[in-house]
Amino acid sequence: MAEIMTLARHILQRKRKYDAATGDFTLLLNHLALATKVVSRQVARAGLLDVLGKTGTENVQGEEVKKLDLIANELLIELLNDLPMVCAIASEEDEHIRHTEAGRLTGRYLVCFDPLDGSSNIDVNITIGTIFSIRRRADTGCEAVAEDFLKPGTEQVAAGYCIYGSSSLFVYSTGDGVDGFTLDPSVGEFVLSHPGIRIPDEVACFSVNAANRRNWYPETVAYVDHLGLGSDVRYKKTSLRYVGTLVADVHRNLLVGGVFLYPGDRKAPHGKLRLLYEAHPLAYLVEQAGGAATDGVGRILDIVPTGLHMRVPLVIGNRREVDLYAEFTHRYAAIPPDATT
Ligand code: AHG
Ligand code: MN
Ligand code: MN
Repeated sequence: MAEIMTLARHILQRKRKYDAATGDFTLLLNHLALATKVVSRQVARAGLLDVLGKTGTENVQGEEVKKLDLIANELLIELLNDLPMVCAIASEEDEHIRHTEAGRLTGRYLVCFDPLDGSSNIDVNITIGTIFSIRRRADTGCEAVAEDFLKPGTEQVAAGYCIYGSSSLFVYSTGDGVDGFTLDPSVGEFVLSHPGIRIPDEVACFSVNAANRRNWYPETVAYVDHLGLGSDVRYKKTSLRYVGTLVADVHRNLLVGGVFLYPGDRKAPHGKLRLLYEAHPLAYLVEQAGGAATDGVGRILDIVPTGLHMRVPLVIGNRREVDLYAEFTHRYAAIPPDATT
């Protein structure tokens, strides 16, 4: 019988890197996988379980919170709460960090997550996802503080996401490559389906919310026109694909080749996406798969957050296209942002 490489076995085989002795890291990753399985079940039945729709409240981002956001958030927190190796959590849905019960003093790991990415797509049955990032803190024996999370993305020891689409796919990296696992509902296990993901050099698509064009800076207008209208043979077969769920757009581009951009613009100079639990983990994964991620000036992974919910412009995908955006930015740097395009 062909070997079934489940996520649990895969993590176990990878554990030598961090916790050959304790198995802490392995247990943490497996708990995150468990949480995504339960979210996947909720998402699959959303329409039947009255979990669609709004809660009538807003989160720290000032964004309307959908029920499934809260369910996913509480579920992840509940599962991580039991783990002695996790000391604190930073979630998109919570203004401040949360200390876990079991590991608040002795835990070595800090977990950041976007419990449900693409909330605006929940009610219309379009792919959504969960994004997570794992860091280790220097010292233990005391409660973690927010500043423990405010470190560059290069300090992440693992990152991953689960997308809830035609199937549920768990993708992660612990620093030696990226692997994807498809949920087999008949056994309730994530099974290896995408070993050793590497972003192709082709640019099958680029992803941007073109409705924001009216606010874009000149470099973004020129860059998008270069990709979409230009004469460069590299983009002859390039399409625009944008579903409005960051993790789904980035995942598709990771598999077929492409670049996603949510740039800063006149209306939102820092862009929309959050560094700690969107840009950092996805930049970690895409770099592990041979791609790149920039805010237009530097490397996303080198950016140190000034706050838990700091937003950054994000251009992520093929290294050539990411570097090209940085070139366009430099070229237009001399033009003041309010110049007419
Ligand atoms: P979240 O649902 O976690 O708030 O994230 C939504 C983000 C991201 O998933 C997506 O790329 C972006 O919002 C879409 O924004 P626009 O609708 O402004 O294009
Ligand atoms: Mn998000
Ligand atoms: Mn979210």
